[in-house]
Amino acid sequence: MPYLHISMVLLLSLHIPAANSATTDTISAGQALSTIGDKLVSKNGKYALGFFKVGNNSSQNTSNWYLGIWFNSVPKFTQAWVANRDDPFKSPTTSAPELKISHDGNLVVLNQSTNSIIWSTQAKMTRNNTIALLLDSGNFILRNASNSSHTLWQSFDHPTDTFLPGMKLGWDNITGLNRRLVSRKNSISPATGVYCEELDPSGINQVVLVKWNSTTQYWSSGVWNGQHWPSLPDEASGVWNDQTGGKESLVTNAHEKYYTYAIVDYTAAVYYNLDVSGQINVFVWPEGSHDWLLTFSQPRAQCDVYSVCGPFAICNDDALPHCTCTKGFSITSPEDWELNDQTGGCTRNTPLDCITKGSSTRSTDKFLSLPCVSLAQSVRRIEDAQSIVVCAQVCLDNCYCTAYSFSNGTCSNWHGELSNIRQIQCSSAANSKGETLYLRLAAKDFQGLEKNKRVFIIAVATGTSVAALGLFAFSMLIMIGRNKRKSSGQISNTAQGCNGIIAFRYNDLKLGTKNFSQKLGGGGFGSVFKGFLNNSTAIAVKELCHHSHQGEKQFRAEVSSIGIIQHINLVKLIGFCCEGARRLLVYEYMSNGSLATHLFQNHATVLTWRTRYQIALGVARGLAYLHEKCRDCIIHCDIKPENILLSDSYVPKIADFGMAKFLGRDFSRVITTMRGTIGYLAPEWISGVAITPKVDVYAYGMVLLEIVSGKRNSCVSCSCGSNHDIYYPVHVAQEIIGGDIMSLLDSRLCGKVNLKEAEITCKVACWCIQDDEFDRPTMGEVVQIMEGLLEINIPPMPRLLQTVAGSSNYSTCC
Ligand SMILES: *[C@@H]1O[C@H](CO)[C@@H](O)[C@H](O)[C@H]1NC(C)=O
Ligand SMILES: *[C@@H]1O[C@H](CO)[C@@H](O)[C@H](O)[C@H]1NC(C)=O
Ligand SMILES: *[C@@H]1O[C@H](CO)[C@@H](O)[C@H](O)[C@H]1NC(C)=O
Ligand SMILES: *[C@@H]1O[C@H](CO)[C@@H](O)[C@H](O)[C@H]1NC(C)=O
Ligand SMILES: *[C@@H]1O[C@H](CO)[C@@H](O)[C@H](O)[C@H]1NC(C)=O
Ligand SMILES: *[C@@H]1O[C@H](CO)[C@@H](O)[C@H](O)[C@H]1NC(C)=O
Ligand SMILES: *[C@@H]1O[C@H](CO)[C@@H](O)[C@H](O)[C@H]1NC(C)=O
Ligand SMILES: *[C@@H]1O[C@H](CO)[C@@H](O)[C@H](O)[C@H]1NC(C)=O
Ligand SMILES: *[C@@H]1O[C@H](CO)[C@@H](O)[C@H](O)[C@H]1NC(C)=O
Ligand SMILES: *[C@@H]1O[C@H](CO)[C@@H](O)[C@H](O)[C@H]1NC(C)=O
Repeated sequence: MPYLHISMVLLLSLHIPAANSATTDTISAGQALSTIGDKLVSKNGKYALGFFKVGNNSSQNTSNWYLGIWFNSVPKFTQAWVANRDDPFKSPTTSAPELKISHDGNLVVLNQSTNSIIWSTQAKMTRNNTIALLLDSGNFILRNASNSSHTLWQSFDHPTDTFLPGMKLGWDNITGLNRRLVSRKNSISPATGVYCEELDPSGINQVVLVKWNSTTQYWSSGVWNGQHWPSLPDEASGVWNDQTGGKESLVTNAHEKYYTYAIVDYTAAVYYNLDVSGQINVFVWPEGSHDWLLTFSQPRAQCDVYSVCGPFAICNDDALPHCTCTKGFSITSPEDWELNDQTGGCTRNTPLDCITKGSSTRSTDKFLSLPCVSLAQSVRRIEDAQSIVVCAQVCLDNCYCTAYSFSNGTCSNWHGELSNIRQIQCSSAANSKGETLYLRLAAKDFQGLEKNKRVFIIAVATGTSVAALGLFAFSMLIMIGRNKRKSSGQISNTAQGCNGIIAFRYNDLKLGTKNFSQKLGGGGFGSVFKGFLNNSTAIAVKELCHHSHQGEKQFRAEVSSIGIIQHINLVKLIGFCCEGARRLLVYEYMSNGSLATHLFQNHATVLTWRTRYQIALGVARGLAYLHEKCRDCIIHCDIKPENILLSDSYVPKIADFGMAKFLGRDFSRVITTMRGTIGYLAPEWISGVAITPKVDVYAYGMVLLEIVSGKRNSCVSCSCGSNHDIYYPVHVAQEIIGGDIMSLLDSRLCGKVNLKEAEITCKVACWCIQDDEFDRPTMGEVVQIMEGLLEINIPPMPRLLQTVAGSSNYSTCC
């Protein structure tokens, strides 16, 4: 397979930035920056400054030009600072205005056709001997040409939406500056948006997020404790610090107070941004990466951002897009909505009908009920009403009233625009704070709605997949199942889905597993327990532990999509349980346990070479099926001997596939903190490149080596000590190249090995663990090689492995 090598070379060359001739970081008197492609580049090459344009006005042949700083070392254009975010320079599409030092010493932008000043640093100074410099930190400064410590103006004092290392967020009482981040208008325009990050103006030592021009704080970091912000989970700051060597501080001195952070020993770009969506996002761009990698985001739930969906829209953290308009309303500005600015919200299709004459009010409006919503951040008025009927009437009698709710004996009314309606998961088990909101609609819109509703019900009744069944249909099934339930010590299934996937009740699983008493194993995703179905079929019940953001509906949809994936080498999903916050998966039970037990435990039966080869081939077939044959490609992401189970006749079956779907957004976070399995993690996980099926190929290669040697590749959990002076995979690569396979084999096999197969296995393993994913074969190719249908070459030495060999002080997390 010679092609394996060529593709890698091509790909690498694509990402080498074009060499820049004669770039400078300075503008002195008499020099100017204006044409496209003209830029200043900081000495370290990380940042560039120049003009860039956004949008076209084709009728006028003009563009909006901005003066700004961007990440020069990153191939994806990403702005770090904009000088004129609210006043774009309107210039011909083909040429920018001019940046230079003016006669008075200030840095200015000139209209080239009129020679008038359209932007200036406006620093006060007495002489004009100044120069402008783009520093390595990304700070663009104007300073005294004859005194390098005399800074007259700096871009760090006028931040836009990006917080670079070394910048100060906070105030300086001598200059009167209060530096804060303000989000951009939308995904295209850098103009001032609606969210702001600043030091708490009330003087508390914390950072807050507020809606711009309001006092509404929707997130705060918690009071600085001298080391870090308490509200941030350790995990988040841990990842942040691991990735960047970041060090944060809150500084208070005689005249200033600010928050800043530094990056220690880290060459990659860091991008801390207050997003259009009102969230703080911190990205890193590791060397060789193809995109920014999100390491940190606050507040974690999008719907925590104040009025992010605007008036009359509903925000749902478990759905994409997060914002939707209810019946009777339409998106106010579809253009802005498209550009990620949803703060315009929704507008009524028909105005309300309400007239007040003297003391009497007449209205034909009706109310639409929205169950399971939270209105925590919206202003309610408590009205005096003893029943829901009276509460509704109180609302109707006031032409400003747009909605009411009646819960816990309290009548609430809302007047005017209603923001922050949030859809939440409502179920009896979860102790949720959901209530039903009755939203006022014009009678006309309400009628349209009744028709729609009927169509919707018909659609549900004729739908066939589990996912299409609404919550209503599911609770019906559960009620039917409840009547059939027997209370033996075994589980009775409560509902049968179309793919044969069973919905179990939690209490039944609890009973069938004898209160989760027999633990089979545990990992990053949750613990597994043994149990029995009522026909005494053994099952394995997995309780998911990191799923906090997975909605019920979505979970059920994932269950049905994973449930249809069936293959002899994949563990079969029998059913699931989804009650309140609980998420459990029920699988067929594998009597021979995991491959890990057989390979690494002394008392276990020794697997013959024949069995080992069949296991290797079976796992390859299972993975090839996941990668290539399913409707959506599934990447397993956690292939290791613990996840390869053996049936009573030693047929290997891959467990735990589809976890990314069940765990939703938290998946990659679990993976990256799952250091226990780091021995199987491909370099892409660490470098932050997009994850492809080749990560499974890598892990598979590592497992093959363990099948051959009968030992762990690394010293993660075995007790080998200092005598383990060479990392096994490196040793294998050396021996394959040197031609001595025998010395690699598990001694418990006593030499009873098919040498041809052993050689193929070692070569395949070594190809699979190549550093570059393009060098690794696909699982389909692995199957063909192991079936003897494809020839295989001598693999090259994986370089990365050689460098990490020896450093194996990993810890396990779960
Ligand atoms: C602006 O117009 C030029 C030429 O008409 C086109 O190539 C470019 O894509 C346009 N840019 C934007 C942002 O629309
Ligand atoms: C282009 O400019 C004209 C005149 O100023 C204005 O009416 C029009 O809305 C502009 N078009 C766009 C797409 O900005
Ligand atoms: C815009 O530019 C094109 C090509 O440069 C030219 O043909 C056209 O006349 C210009 N339009 C205006 C309104 O200047
Ligand atoms: C420069 O001035 C001309 C004429 O007043 C105007 O049409 C053009 O938009 C200006 N350009 C900028 C960048 O302000
Ligand atoms: C600085 O100012 C002096 C007089 O005020 C002027 O003659 C000189 O040209 C200015 N220098 C520059 C570089 O603009
Ligand atoms: C720069 O520094 C020199 C000497 O310290 C001083 O004479 C001059 O006025 C300063 N220039 C400006 C623009 O402040
Ligand atoms: C240079 O500027 C700094 C800061 O403004 C000032 O403290 C220092 O005295 C200046 N040095 C000279 C030689 O003027
Ligand atoms: C915020 O207030 C400033 C001045 O008080 C005003 O110019 C600006 O338009 C306001 N911004 C928003 C988003 O309301
Ligand atoms: C700075 O000024 C603010 C109010 O303008 C005041 O609350 C704060 O105490 C001052 N800080 C210092 C360090 O003087
Ligand atoms: C509902 O009422 C009960 C008793 O009056 C009270 O304990 C509870 O806090 C109330 N719940 C809400 C959400 O107001």
